[in-house]
Amino acid sequence: MDIDRWQKRLQELPLGNLYLYQEVGSTNTEAEQLAREGVPPFSLVVADAQTAGRGRMDRIWITRPGQALAFSLILYPQAEVHPEVLGRLSGMVALGVAEVLRQSYGLPAEIKWPNDVLVEGRKIAGILVEAHWEGGRLLDAILGVGVNVHREALPDDREFIFPATTLDDCSGEKASRLDLLVRILRSLLRWHNRLAEPSLIETWNELLAYKNQQVSLSSSRGVIARGELRGVEGDGSLSLLTERGEARQFLSGEIRLRLVDRS
Ligand code: BTN
Repeated sequence: MDIDRWQKRLQELPLGNLYLYQEVGSTNTEAEQLAREGVPPFSLVVADAQTAGRGRMDRIWITRPGQALAFSLILYPQAEVHPEVLGRLSGMVALGVAEVLRQSYGLPAEIKWPNDVLVEGRKIAGILVEAHWEGGRLLDAILGVGVNVHREALPDDREFIFPATTLDDCSGEKASRLDLLVRILRSLLRWHNRLAEPSLIETWNELLAYKNQQVSLSSSRGVIARGELRGVEGDGSLSLLTERGEARQFLSGEIRLRLVDRS
């Protein structure tokens, strides 16, 4: 990664400080530390490679040098935080990424609730939003984004957990990681301004994968519910019509969603 070139381009955006690294453990961990030091809002941490990248549910996220996008954006609460807004944050990030893939690369990107980005059923990007609290007060929220850009971004056992893909494979050409980053950041900043607007949930619902299909939700302790996926509610929770015909809502937390195989 040509840090000077990336830095120059990123300076065009209305961000806070820029922290660009060839290698870090995890950009989210780095961003958490910086937030604690009080760096300006919308400060950005980008790494060419991560040695201890993290995913949801304590999974590892591999970021090989030169192959992927891995970055974290630091947000602070502007006023007292409504829990509803926090629930929308992870959808907002997924929406920002999915919209760029659709509008700039012509891909049929969808959002697998709460915030994986899929193209034709394969995961192209993962998002890890981490909020830090002191007592009941939200200190900061770190928006971590990892996008599989070039072929070598995928681990060898790629089919193991969930089928994955890369931007190069989907678009049929070699994408520029810097262009992609700038586009995603612009999109995130736009959606952040609309965080409280109904259009955010409407668009999230339009791009939601598995709508009206049978899915199962599970935690580390096993299956929590099965049912027809109806959509996302105003607080970012997922609405299911369960097998018993009840409408139930689930907040993301440590929940995993799977399509039920009916074949
Ligand atoms: C997931 O799909 O489980 C979420 C993956 C999130 C990965 C990104 S890469 C940048 C940021 N730093 C991390 O350690 N994780 C996130």
